[in-house]
Amino acid sequence: MAFLRSRIVGVGAYLPERVLTNEELAAQVDTSDAWIVERTGIRERHIAAEGQRTSDLAIAAAEKALAAAGMTGRDIDLIVLATATPDNTFPSTATRVQAALGMTRGAAFDVQAVCSGFIYALSVADNFIKSGQARTALVIGAETFSRILDWTDRGTCVLFGDGAGAVVLKAQDGTGHNTDVGILSTHLHSDGRHYNLLHVDGGPSSTQTVGHLRMEGREVFRHAVVNLASVVHEALEANGFAASDLDWVVPHQANRRIIEGTVRKLGMPLDRVVISVERHANTSAASVPLALAEAVGDGRIKAGDLVLLEAMGGGFTWGAALVRL
Ligand code: ACO
Repeated sequence: MAFLRSRIVGVGAYLPERVLTNEELAAQVDTSDAWIVERTGIRERHIAAEGQRTSDLAIAAAEKALAAAGMTGRDIDLIVLATATPDNTFPSTATRVQAALGMTRGAAFDVQAVCSGFIYALSVADNFIKSGQARTALVIGAETFSRILDWTDRGTCVLFGDGAGAVVLKAQDGTGHNTDVGILSTHLHSDGRHYNLLHVDGGPSSTQTVGHLRMEGREVFRHAVVNLASVVHEALEANGFAASDLDWVVPHQANRRIIEGTVRKLGMPLDRVVISVERHANTSAASVPLALAEAVGDGRIKAGDLVLLEAMGGGFTWGAALVRL
């Protein structure tokens, strides 16, 4: 059997129009722009309009990724959509996206790994392509975290935003000149012992309500830096690379201090790290593809670059993907 690799052939992102600044938040809860910037690096976030659903954000991002790839929904075999804020409990948000894109064949489903969701979804789609079960895949991270925030809790409501990002994957022969191109490897981890450190206190089978996000911020911070540094080393080692071989790191955009702490452990200069958290805040599963789309769009990340994607989220879940664009 031919050796197949997934190649990223298009990226796209979408942010809702409404921008909510730290100053506006400080008028609602007991916080300040200075506190938020110092502890997190966040200055503003985008918030979905009333009636705008996660699928609306996902469709907009997917359309841009498809356009960048020169494809339409009819060319896609598989949609894997990562979200912790689905339109409805069921059906999957992915199936609504599938219909909107005019895709009537193949399969579409959601993946739930909170902030690591995009890395999980990328890994799932990559394995579909490597096994020959799909030739083209749309991988989307889309969230409306504004819907699950407790807007009276200053410890959490300042940290998150809404948005979506997407990539199109295409199967290509992974031999000869192409041995070192595409998704080189993905690495996933979870540790359910930490379920309660970052969770939503509602759900269909527990409270029959949607619930609100609850978090032990300090504990999450501590685990994030350790787990992310570990999975980054794992991805580099698996491919025989050192951190100095990387052209770019696209980290999950949760908190500037987590990003700096992880990068320091790697020994990488910050100017090779894509950072958008100051404008997007933490958009959970959307954060990595949003940052990737921005850096590809403005020409920082170019074809041939070696790029490391990493994320950590509730569960805990964490993961990394090493990609040659
Ligand atoms: N404005 C002003 N003061 C605040 C705010 C706020 N928005 N939030 C908390 N405080 C106060 C607290 O009440 C506390 O006051 P006290 O000392 O009088 O009790 C003080 O600030 C310190 O609170 P801590 O929670 O200890 O502050 P810390 O320095 O840990 O920063 C933060 C909090 C920013 C949440 C940090 O712990 C963090 O970034 N954790 C990681 C969380 C994260 O990124 N989660 C995202 C999901 S997981 C992931 O994506 C990796």
